[in-house]
Amino acid sequence: MKYYITTPIYYPNSSPHIGTAYTTIAADAMARLRRMKGDDVYFLTGTDENAQKIVRTAENAGMDPLTYVDGIVDKFKEFWRLLDISNDDFVRTTEERHAKVVQQIFTMLYEKGDIYKSEYEGWYCTPCETFWTENKLVDGKCPNPDCGRNVELLKEESYFFRMSKYSGRLLQYIQDHPDFIQPTSRRNEMIRFIEGGLDDLCVSRTTFQWGIKVPFDPKHVVYVWLDALINYISALGYPDGEKYKTYWPASVHLVGKDIVRFHTIIWPIILMALNLPLPEKVFGHGWFLSKEGGKISKSRGNVQDSFQLIQRYGADPIRYFLLRELQYGMDGTFSEDDLVEKLNSDLANDLGNFVSRTLAMVVKYRNGIVPEPGEDTDLEREIRDLSSKVKQGTEEKMLACDTAAALEVIWQFVSRCNKYVDETAPWNLAKSEDNQDRLDTVLYTFMECIRILGILCAPFMPGVPRKIKPLLGDTDFFKDWEQADSWNVIQPGTAIRKGEAIFPRIDVSAYLEQVNSEMERCVTQVQGNTGHQQEVNLEVSPSQLGNLQQMAEMVPLKEEISIEEFAKMDFRVVKVLQAEKVEKADKLLKLEVEMGGERRTIVSGIAQHYSPEALVGKKVILVANLKPAKLRGIMSQGMILAASQDGELEVLTVQKDLPTGAQVK
Ligand code: MSP
Repeated sequence: MKYYITTPIYYPNSSPHIGTAYTTIAADAMARLRRMKGDDVYFLTGTDENAQKIVRTAENAGMDPLTYVDGIVDKFKEFWRLLDISNDDFVRTTEERHAKVVQQIFTMLYEKGDIYKSEYEGWYCTPCETFWTENKLVDGKCPNPDCGRNVELLKEESYFFRMSKYSGRLLQYIQDHPDFIQPTSRRNEMIRFIEGGLDDLCVSRTTFQWGIKVPFDPKHVVYVWLDALINYISALGYPDGEKYKTYWPASVHLVGKDIVRFHTIIWPIILMALNLPLPEKVFGHGWFLSKEGGKISKSRGNVQDSFQLIQRYGADPIRYFLLRELQYGMDGTFSEDDLVEKLNSDLANDLGNFVSRTLAMVVKYRNGIVPEPGEDTDLEREIRDLSSKVKQGTEEKMLACDTAAALEVIWQFVSRCNKYVDETAPWNLAKSEDNQDRLDTVLYTFMECIRILGILCAPFMPGVPRKIKPLLGDTDFFKDWEQADSWNVIQPGTAIRKGEAIFPRIDVSAYLEQVNSEMERCVTQVQGNTGHQQEVNLEVSPSQLGNLQQMAEMVPLKEEISIEEFAKMDFRVVKVLQAEKVEKADKLLKLEVEMGGERRTIVSGIAQHYSPEALVGKKVILVANLKPAKLRGIMSQGMILAASQDGELEVLTVQKDLPTGAQVK
């Protein structure tokens, strides 16, 4: 059976984070399960690059949009690689293969009369990339409850998509296909929305040039959502590509709750207007919130460094935590403390312990050779029955996109396995000659349980079968899902190994001790430098460990100064007008800056962190009363402030558009 699954394409205006990781990890688990079931799977993800907010972010970084997104897209690809994501394709909306399909569809809809030219007068929220009518605004701001930011008034010539024409047909379709929008709460929400009446949608912009041009009217660029949704077929090579013919319609579009509306109203209407089949299902999951309550997002500044999290805990625990934490259709919370707790309880204790203690028993009682099993008892039969139920239950939950429930089902099996160890008490069986046959059966069943657990975990934590394989005699038992309830698969006589723990426990207190001793070293250094006692609160939670470690590695503080001494320094906001490399000095840049009408030349040692182009236009902070000094023959009239640690460096800037010459105190 063919199975086409997609994630939303992500805005590459900032690096990927743990909030955005859920959809891709969930889609990956579904895709992996289907592949293991023998389905013909196509799994697509990508990036949505033609947004107005990309232009703004790139401008702020002093870069052109494409150079800016290229860097972030590389980070997304690396992020997915580190998280073991098995996507078959990665589509970028700046690619020609996508742009040409968008242009073709825009023209088709125009020629059909479903797109017409008029004028848009109304509001636009750039962070949400959404048009709003005046009456929808809340206190004059974006009505999206997660946004609430300022909107901009637009009045520009625009093309419109005749959505209103299709609203009756769409409503009928949703009513006839109860599975099309899931969960049901979102389906009801969408039905209410359509019943409220659909306006025609503005589908082009003229006030900026970044984006896909309307082919017959190139001063217009295509509205980013119309452009983005088409990725699901452009990546397959619509209209003639083999992949398109094989995989469309999609089996499921997996999306977050905020974008269900775009996927279940705009997208189906585009498809209806093109006479194409609709996706089988759109599933809208909840969000990950921070412990304090808000959605985890870059703009809220509550995002932890996701790359650091992967480095610290590995991909499997993060995948497990996210998939298990988000209950069907609900929001969940993410915190590092909870992640460590789940890792220790579910992965290290329940799963990891079962694997290591049963392997250790085969090593101890049978010299590491899997024995021939004897007669089964009711206990073994019960475990076999449970494996069938667990296999089927996992499939059903995953079909419903309920990753948390699927893992709960699997963990019933993990618990049963651990209980089986206690019930059979092999350490007692080993004591008596008469019980050796029974011990063989029990040890053999243990090994089969490990094999089955490897299969069950494979879609969710692909690292588990990789770790278990060398322990079970290097045979790849883990590719075929159907084998999750077959028994007597491992050959008696197979040599197994005890190996390392598959999920080592994170010993929080030992970790803290290490950090604390680092801190003491740091405090001693600070005391040595300043003669002052410094109080340090050593009661920290795991989520603070990262910060503490950074503190421990902090460069010691300098000697105390008085406020009068500080007041002697004169810091000013200046604008970089020009920047160029200093010949034969790979660390130096020569900057021309402007400060309240005055021009200055500054030589700055930041060439290894910034290209000259990236600095031009930036407002930075200058130590303006520093005695001029000659560097490589150039008189430098001040110094630019920058923050740095461990080889990372960032020049300080001001967020607001303050005039140059403004004082920094
Ligand atoms: N570019 C559009 C999607 C176009 S699809 C044709 C977009 N991009 S996004 O980067 O803002 O968001 C992508 C997805 O990430 C959305 O489904 C959104 O719900 C999800 N998430 C972003 N933050 C999230 C959490 N904190 N938790 C869970 N999902 C989150 O929208």
